[in-house]
Amino acid sequence: MSRKRLGVVVEGAFNAGLTVRLDPGSCTEDLRIGDFVTVEGERNIYFSMIADIALRSTSPGLIADPPAGMSSFIADTLSGINTYATVQVRTMLMMGKYDDRTFIEDVTPPETVRTIPMHFATLCEASERDFHAVFGREDVSHFAVGTPLTMEIPICLDLNRLVERSNGIFGQTGTGKSFLVRLLLCGVIKSGLAVNLIFDMHDEYAFGKQSEDGRWVKGLRHLFGSRVLIYSLEEAAGARAGRSVDVTLKIGLNQFEPEDVLLLAEELNLRATAEPTIGLLQDQYRERWLQRLLEMSPEDLSAFCETRGAHPATMGALQRNLKRIARRPYVVEEARFSQIDDMVAALDQGKHVILHFGRHDTTLDHMLVANVVTRRVRQLYRKKVERYEQTQKPADKPHPLVITIEEAHKFLSPTISRQTIFGTIARELRKYHVTLMVVDQRPGGIDTEILSQLGTRITGKLTDERDIEAALTGVANRTFLRNALNSLNTRQQILITGHAVPMPIVLRTRPYDEVFYKEMGGGELTPEEIEKDFTDLFGSGRG
Ligand SMILES: Nc1ncnc2c1ncn2[C@@H]1O[C@H](COP(=O)(O)OP(=O)(O)OP(=O)(O)O)[C@@H](O)[C@H]1O
Ligand SMILES: [Mg+2]
Repeated sequence: MSRKRLGVVVEGAFNAGLTVRLDPGSCTEDLRIGDFVTVEGERNIYFSMIADIALRSTSPGLIADPPAGMSSFIADTLSGINTYATVQVRTMLMMGKYDDRTFIEDVTPPETVRTIPMHFATLCEASERDFHAVFGREDVSHFAVGTPLTMEIPICLDLNRLVERSNGIFGQTGTGKSFLVRLLLCGVIKSGLAVNLIFDMHDEYAFGKQSEDGRWVKGLRHLFGSRVLIYSLEEAAGARAGRSVDVTLKIGLNQFEPEDVLLLAEELNLRATAEPTIGLLQDQYRERWLQRLLEMSPEDLSAFCETRGAHPATMGALQRNLKRIARRPYVVEEARFSQIDDMVAALDQGKHVILHFGRHDTTLDHMLVANVVTRRVRQLYRKKVERYEQTQKPADKPHPLVITIEEAHKFLSPTISRQTIFGTIARELRKYHVTLMVVDQRPGGIDTEILSQLGTRITGKLTDERDIEAALTGVANRTFLRNALNSLNTRQQILITGHAVPMPIVLRTRPYDEVFYKEMGGGELTPEEIEKDFTDLFGSGRG
């Protein structure tokens, strides 16, 4: 086998790990803690990691009285006989033994380690083939997200498994979450394994954006053309060069449910009495409750209070506070659900939708719009799944849908996650073929029950204890992972754990750059069209 040999196993215990004596030719300075290695036993290959390195000697005299002014000749003579080095190896996964001639696809899938190899099993550097055997090779359903910190081998995520469950992308500001999400979305779009609904809250996914180091990077529209539809809340968004918008989305007062408003109690300054009062309004006016409240004259208000027993001061305050909603430019008196229904029809055709907030990027906007849209989308998905269960026709099977939200703690904090549609989706797992990609700087602000439902977690640097604790909720081997998290750089380094990878791994995130754009192969727009859009937007002087 063409792996570079490092030494042989001389001791070991299942729990404590294996001790390997390094071959005389191997130098401890070439090995790093955390490097990937394989141990080749008689029947298995153990994919492993270096946990510790030690220098040893066979004669106590040598330690008590090391030769002074030693020449390299003496060092070489002693090496391997009187002095040697050992490494402590932690086995991670095992596979049936394979060699250079075995097809990677024929290697038994990696499984949890339940055995240890015998004495003198050989330790080697992990080769590219070993990584392929463990993480898979880039193909339709395997997407390379990055490389190990000390190697140039692309490591893949299993996209089928990624979209199967809800996922979390965490890390403090500037660690590269949005860049990573863009990479993952590109991977999913290219594979066609799921459709995406992306709430683009900070104007960074649809169109190009300037990165912190001053480069212009492309948005998904530029990469995938009309496979990605842009719904914008901003009337004028489409008028700006290089930004073609497909639909300007309007939300009607009739579409808000009491929960949407009550979730925003703090933002809207609502008092505790708001809930029963809204209840009275809803009893009387059904889905027109908000419209009716906002158009009531002072006389209407007092008449309502008299007949329904509401408190006049409360009603007045409620009306004043909720007027803020009506003043949002994208909110209209009455809207039909057809815009959102068309959005779902587009998802059905395999298109991806970005909901672009544009200038409307306050918490109020995020919550109002994301809740109304997502509730309707999930309702339609539910119907689709129920129909599919009846007919069982492949044509009726809905595409799995991934909904991406930034600042997820706003929707999933312990106090509100039971009431938001996002909490519902995370809890019902993939029953209705809808999952979430939650992106957050502060995972500590997310309900632990939701965190424990997340299938795959990709975490950048975190320093706050509560956030670290949250990011590692429900995963095994926490001390080890905590150390891995602590060792991350502040940018573009991630720890991946969970469903989409066979074992936790620390990676340097793949660069989102020209090379990547090429690999994504562009969209239905020709490269010239994409370039033109881009030049319109940023001018040609970009670096
Ligand atoms: N994969 C990548 N390829 C190229 N540049 C990257 C990558 N990841 C991170 N960067 C660099 O790091 C900067 C910060 O990344 P990003 O905007 O994704 O951070 P963030 O975690 O989303 O921060 P915030 O929480 O403030 O939104 C980028 O502007 C870019 O310069
Ligand atoms: Mg970001």
